[in-house]
Amino acid sequence: MPPTSETQASQDRAASLPFELMEVVSVSRSEIEVCADLERVVCDRDGAVATLDRATLDDTAMPKLPRDQSIVITIDGPAGTGKSSVARSLAKALGLDFLDTGAMYRAAAAITIDHKIDPSDSDAIVRETVKGDLHFDWTRDPPTILAFGSPIDHRIRAPDVAELVSPIATIRALREHMVKKQRIIAQQHPRLVTEGRDQGSVVFPDAAVKFYLDASPEVRARRRAEQLVASGHSADLGSITAEILDRDRRDSSRADGPLMCPSNAICVDTSDLTFDQVVKTLHRHVLAVVGR
Ligand code: DC
Repeated sequence: MPPTSETQASQDRAASLPFELMEVVSVSRSEIEVCADLERVVCDRDGAVATLDRATLDDTAMPKLPRDQSIVITIDGPAGTGKSSVARSLAKALGLDFLDTGAMYRAAAAITIDHKIDPSDSDAIVRETVKGDLHFDWTRDPPTILAFGSPIDHRIRAPDVAELVSPIATIRALREHMVKKQRIIAQQHPRLVTEGRDQGSVVFPDAAVKFYLDASPEVRARRRAEQLVASGHSADLGSITAEILDRDRRDSSRADGPLMCPSNAICVDTSDLTFDQVVKTLHRHVLAVVGR
């Protein structure tokens, strides 16, 4: 049966919503400011705002994995594919722990800035990061990261850290340190959904289920622009798209932990999917693999 104009309009509207937008509420400017230090704020084109922290996928009907089942699930992919939010929701739906490896690289960048280390001094960066003994507080949801015994989860989202983290993440010795730490974390948390650029390709090549999330550069640029606008910044779609293409080129061509679709990974293009559709797709794949 052909769609009615009403259903078509509603489908068009759904398709035009930002990927991360799980629940839309209209808020005032002051509420936006209150939201500003939350992990992420997204808005639709009418200016309605949603926070991922408030919005939750209704996962009550989604089966969890048995408590005695050890499993590592990896989610790799470029920036703007929603890896982090998807990984967190998938972990919650399955009853698993969630590891945000980007937070570890961000922590190294924060340490570099706050300990006044020369960003070109790779040895000093690695030394100080090792001394910082990065670890997570697993009693929090999502787990918060600590360095030198103190929580730094807010610090790692600051603009100066965001700017420095990409070059820091290319330091080979730092990556080796992070890979070791991530493997130790997986031993301590054997029921884990872990996300990053290299989780399925380098860190856990034998993971039970490996995903690679992708989306077209245009869609990823639009999502990024929506986030910037929602947090009060201006956004130029053309230059954001160019930056994304440039970052993809750098990430894919770096010597250590290059961004790539890992072998045997399930590739999911999120360009035309809503957030819920992505999480449910991954959830279905996991259940199929573990035979439930
Ligand atoms: O996902 P994110 O934006 O928090 O990641 C921060 C930076 O760290 C980003 O430049 C990608 C990099 N990163 C990485 O190189 N390897 C990982 N496993 C995770 C993140």
